[in-house]
Amino acid sequence: MIAAYVTSPGDSSEIKVGQLPDPEPGPREVLVKVSAVTVNHVDTFIRSGAYPTALSYPFVIGRDLVGTVVSSPADRFAPGDRVWCNSLGHDGRQGSFSEYCAVPEERLYRLPDGVSDDAVAVLHTAATAYLGLFEHAGAGYGETIAVFGAAGGVGSAVVQLASTAGLRVVATARAEDAEWCRECGADEVFDYADPDLYRKLPVVDLLWDNAGRHDLLSAVPLLSRGGRIIAMAGMDSKPTLPIGELYTRDASIRGFAISNAGVTALGSAARVVNRGLSTGILRPRIGTRLPLAAAAEAHRLQESGQARGRIVLEV
Ligand SMILES: NC(=O)c1ccc[n+]([C@@H]2O[C@H](COP(=O)([O-])OP(=O)(O)OC[C@H]3O[C@@H](n4cnc5c(N)ncnc54)[C@H](OP(=O)(O)O)[C@@H]3O)[C@@H](O)[C@H]2O)c1
Repeated sequence: MIAAYVTSPGDSSEIKVGQLPDPEPGPREVLVKVSAVTVNHVDTFIRSGAYPTALSYPFVIGRDLVGTVVSSPADRFAPGDRVWCNSLGHDGRQGSFSEYCAVPEERLYRLPDGVSDDAVAVLHTAATAYLGLFEHAGAGYGETIAVFGAAGGVGSAVVQLASTAGLRVVATARAEDAEWCRECGADEVFDYADPDLYRKLPVVDLLWDNAGRHDLLSAVPLLSRGGRIIAMAGMDSKPTLPIGELYTRDASIRGFAISNAGVTALGSAARVVNRGLSTGILRPRIGTRLPLAAAAEAHRLQESGQARGRIVLEV
C-alpha cells in the first residue's frame, strides 16, 4: 500500500511517501480503507520527536482518518461501513496516513449517515474541545468562557460545543475571523491584537487559550471565584503565575492532553462528535486540500503557522 511515513524523528523533509506492506489486522482490529486524513499540531510534534511516545519505524504519520470497513472481527462493523478514528499514530499505534489501517475495534466509530469525508477535519479538535470542557474543566450551563484563538481548529470546536451547552462565549480572534466566530456561536468577539484586550474582557468562569501564550499576569485577574484556566497548548510556555490572585479566587489551572485519554473518555467524545456532525453543530473549516503524496508539504504548512483553516488530504 502507499503510505506517508518516517524512518526516524526529524523535520518534515524526512517524510517519505511510498510502498509499505499492507497492515495485518490483529484479532480485535478492523481493516479500514482510508479515504481522508488531516494534520494536527500534535502530528508534527510526534514526527519530530518533540512529543515523546512509543513508536516503531517505519512509522506511518497521522492520527485521524475517515474510511470504509474492509473486514471486521466484530459484529459492530460490517464491510462497507463508513467509519472514523482519532487516536492512531501514538502510544505504539501506527498512524493513519496510508491506504489501509488496522484500527483497534474499540477506537473506531461509525460516521453518521449523510456526513462527508470532510468530517475528518474536526475529529481531533472537537474531541479535544469536549474533553477539555466537560471532562477536565467541568464547564456548566450559564457559565462564561473566554476562548483565545477562537477561529482555529480547537477554538472553533470549543465555541461550537460551549455555546450549544449554554455557556456564554467570549472569543478572541484576528479581526477578519470575527464573523466565523459568531457563526460558531460566540456571543462577543474581540480582536486579539487589541492592546487593551484584557481591559475590555469581562470576568469569566473559564479561560481556554489555544494560542498557548498564557499571559497569566493578565488572565488570572479575569477569573471569577472558582474560575478555571484550561492549559492545553504552549509546550514551551513558562509564564509567571500570580499565585495570590489565583488562590484568593479558589481558581485553578487544569491541564490535559487528548493523547492521555483512554477509550472510555474517547468513546464519550465520539458520541458528542457524531451528534455534532449529524446536526451541523460541528462544522469543519477547511483551508487546504492536498493528495496523500503531499504529506510533507502538509506538515510544512501546518508548522509554518500560515495555514488558514484545516488541512485535509485525500487518500
Ligand atoms: N492538549 C491537547 O489535547 C491538544 C489537542 C489539540 C490541540 N492542542 C494544541 O492546541 C493548540 C491549538 O490547536 P489548533 O489545532 O486549534 O491550532 P490552530 O488551528 O493553529 O489554532 C491556533 C489559533 O491561535 C490563534 N492565535 C495566534 N496568536 C494568537 C494570539 N496572540 N492571541 C489569540 N489567539 C492567537 C491563531 O490565530 P491566527 O490563525 O489568526 O494566527 C489560531 O486561531 C496547538 O498548540 C495544539 O498543539 C492540544
